[in-house]
Amino acid sequence: MAAETDALFYFILYTAIFFFVLIVSLALYFTIKYRVKPGESAAPDPTAPTHNPLLEASWIVIPTILVMVVFGWGFHGFLKSSIVPANALQIKVTGQKWFWGFDYAEGASTVNEMVAPVDTPIKLLMSSKDVIHSFFVPAFRLKHDVLPNRYRIGWFQATQPGTYDLYCAEFCGSKHSQMIGKVRIVSEREYKEWLDEASDLGKGLTPAEFGRKLFTNKACNTCHTLDGTPSNGPSLKGVFGHDVKLASGATLKADENYIRKSILDPASDVVAGYQPIMPTFQGLLKDKELDALVAFIQTLGVSK
Ligand code: CUA
Repeated sequence: MAAETDALFYFILYTAIFFFVLIVSLALYFTIKYRVKPGESAAPDPTAPTHNPLLEASWIVIPTILVMVVFGWGFHGFLKSSIVPANALQIKVTGQKWFWGFDYAEGASTVNEMVAPVDTPIKLLMSSKDVIHSFFVPAFRLKHDVLPNRYRIGWFQATQPGTYDLYCAEFCGSKHSQMIGKVRIVSEREYKEWLDEASDLGKGLTPAEFGRKLFTNKACNTCHTLDGTPSNGPSLKGVFGHDVKLASGATLKADENYIRKSILDPASDVVAGYQPIMPTFQGLLKDKELDALVAFIQTLGVSK
């Protein structure tokens, strides 16, 4: 799709440059050639022609043809980008303040990194959990608004393995500029291997080890540090088992249920000094994953 999009873009660009140079040069040339010379009258010459049907027809017909070419070409590309091939592989895309979630039919789910096989049509089933976001991968010439309460559908077929930038292209709040990710295109074989592993993340790990993996995987680390430094959210070092002062003025002890509630319903007990900006992970975490995160955060509590 990129080749056709670019070809049309350059066609419009070079056509515009050609006519710009032609018209501006002729205008300058005639301005100088037909200027009023010393000793001549500035009054209009009554014998000069008043119109020219051929010239007038040409500046209507030529631009009309150009516009029709651009329309036909653009419409062809639009149809191509709108009609998803029947054999496409589906990935569910979720936009949420301020990250991208990807869910695969096999059970794998990732945050801010989409992995897909090369030379395979990929169908994107996109929706938002909150406000309007826009899924933008410049290298694929792919940009779709992602709306709450409905699905948007798009597709692409990557022709080269590599890592491509993903942006949110719709202003969606204070961290809009940080809503970025990667699209990693790999070979068919690497994709299968990745999918097998990603679909069974906790295999062979203790709950706390699995929780540590999820902490990065679910992008918790973008707002919570583990070394005591405050970030967008409080650091999780030394929280578990200790008293937490809330924005409401109350104090409570950070136990298993407090951690669980803070993940699923983050706005309920906000820590004093922080904004209620954390998104809910309700529906994004399986029970086993929630248990693992609680177990991991538990291990951070003893260090205080
Ligand atoms: Cu999401 Cu900007």
